[in-house]
Amino acid sequence: MSTKKEVRILLVGDSGVGKTSLILALVSEEFPEEVPAKAEEITIPADVTPERVPTHIVDFSYQEQDQEALTDEVKKASVVCIVYAVDDEDSIEKITSNWLPFLRETLGEEHRVPVILVGNKTDLLDFSTMETMMPIMNDFAEVETCVECSAKTLKNISELFYYAQKAVLHPTAPVYNAEEKE
Ligand code: GTP
Repeated sequence: MSTKKEVRILLVGDSGVGKTSLILALVSEEFPEEVPAKAEEITIPADVTPERVPTHIVDFSYQEQDQEALTDEVKKASVVCIVYAVDDEDSIEKITSNWLPFLRETLGEEHRVPVILVGNKTDLLDFSTMETMMPIMNDFAEVETCVECSAKTLKNISELFYYAQKAVLHPTAPVYNAEEKE
């Protein structure tokens, strides 16, 4: 049984990957043609979430916020979604060169805040980036899962937020941690 009383989902990732669009697509169930730089914090009441736990969804945008605000949000998050755009190689490269190391710097090398890798804009590509994500999942134990989605076609949008909720409430413990078993 989990004792978590609420879930706080933070979306980070390079500018333009579609963080705000994903949040607004979830809420309105349609692709928002025009989005603000940053979505207001959204609270989903317990009774309409799959796991019956109040869930906050938090956007981040460097257009409106700075590094200090990002650090604060990361410390408050119960799960972090690192969003990339499947058609933007730079945003993929930044997962391992920037975002995952930044989370470790902020939360500690051995932190247990689950991370979900979110590949948005699948409507723009006809192949999957999952193969690129697998080695990252192997190298970073905090990565709970990865999911490809599209704010435009609404593919996997509700699933993404369900996986995030589930990662907090039912974390999968590492089966075997070689470094701890000296
Ligand atoms: P910052 O606020 O700068 O961090 O950007 P963001 O990550 O919040 O991205 P935003 O939601 O503002 O989207 C950036 C652009 O990508 C917009 O023009 C969106 O319409 C577009 N976009 C977002 N999601 C999708 C998608 O699934 N498919 C396509 N084709 N375009 C998308």
